Amino acid sequence: MRAVGFTKINGEIVELERPVPEPGAGEVLIRVSHAGVNFAEVQHRRGDFGEPEPEGDVPGLEAAGVVAAVGPAVSGLAAGDQVTAYLPGFGGYAEYVIAPAAFTYPIGDLDPVVAAGAPTVLTTAYGLLAGAGRLAAGDTVLVHAAAGGVGTVAVQIAKALGAGKVFGTVGSADKVAYARQFGYDEVVVRDGFADQIRELTGGRGVDLVLDSVGGQTRPDSLGVLAVFGRLAAYGDAGNHPDLTLAVRPLWKSNQFVGGFNIGDLARRGPELVTRFGRAALDLVAAKKVHIDVTDVLPLSDAGVALDRLATGANRGKLVLSV
Ligand SMILES: NC(=O)c1ccc[n+]([C@@H]2O[C@H](COP(=O)([O-])OP(=O)(O)OC[C@H]3O[C@@H](n4cnc5c(N)ncnc54)[C@H](OP(=O)(O)O)[C@@H]3O)[C@@H](O)[C@H]2O)c1
Repeated sequence: MRAVGFTKINGEIVELERPVPEPGAGEVLIRVSHAGVNFAEVQHRRGDFGEPEPEGDVPGLEAAGVVAAVGPAVSGLAAGDQVTAYLPGFGGYAEYVIAPAAFTYPIGDLDPVVAAGAPTVLTTAYGLLAGAGRLAAGDTVLVHAAAGGVGTVAVQIAKALGAGKVFGTVGSADKVAYARQFGYDEVVVRDGFADQIRELTGGRGVDLVLDSVGGQTRPDSLGVLAVFGRLAAYGDAGNHPDLTLAVRPLWKSNQFVGGFNIGDLARRGPELVTRFGRAALDLVAAKKVHIDVTDVLPLSDAGVALDRLATGANRGKLVLSV
């Protein structure tokens, strides 16, 4: 089968010929029509997940298509079903991929282009808010990288779960209007955001910050937490060195710092991945959450898509047509 991937860290995206894999127990084989593009694939290529295999790594955390075969011990899914799946073992940038049945969702009449860009950002945003972030009704939320894949759905899910005001930050002024259309009460440029958020909240601060950027954004976010406010770290798009965080200032100022990682959740709390993914997809089906696919590129242009994400030039979701 046809696939694309890379054979060395920061290497070009090249065509890779692979055998069609066979589903094991609890797995399904999906004939991929579309694959979502995630920042995780930028990290994969830049080496954050280690060296690629000698025959090359096929990235891709999510894909939509048709179930081609099911392995033993799979119920509720059958060959011919239209599905989308979160792929903890990567491999979505290919004609066929193996997915855990637990993370494979029938899509009903949802467009497969949209469905392909759904499972990872939806599960992440829902898990950040309802799981790691312990969102309560009326909570004020701040989302960094508000115009991106996770950012554009996080605000909508937050509102659907009963959040109060939701603010966003973006890296450049040209993304403000784009991000605002997803329901943010205000979107500000990240440089100097802390003063603006304090002003927008009348000095109170926010109850929850979702931070995928890292670097100075982390301490600046701690500075805008209300009493018992939570900072949920879940990414490091800026590729900054990690922080050394002292604990004493946290208890001296009633603050919490935590994190969210979908890969760890898939290993240690897979039922939560299924639950968050299902709940968020139900919001999409109910038209309460819109996934904004801003471009569909052929699989052969996967490198172009990754470069857009790596430079921060993307908005919403990019999808590859396989
Ligand atoms: N922990 C998890 O389980 C998990 C799961 C999924 C995603 N994530 C993380 O969530 C974030 C969003 O993922 P996504 O796929 O939806 O990506 P995305 O938000 O569509 O794209 C990444 C965004 O990061 C921002 N950014 C900040 N500094 C950057 C830099 N130096 N270079 C490039 N971009 C930079 C850019 O937005 P601005 O222009 O607004 O700065 C860019 O648009 C990523 O950081 C990803 O690693 C984590």
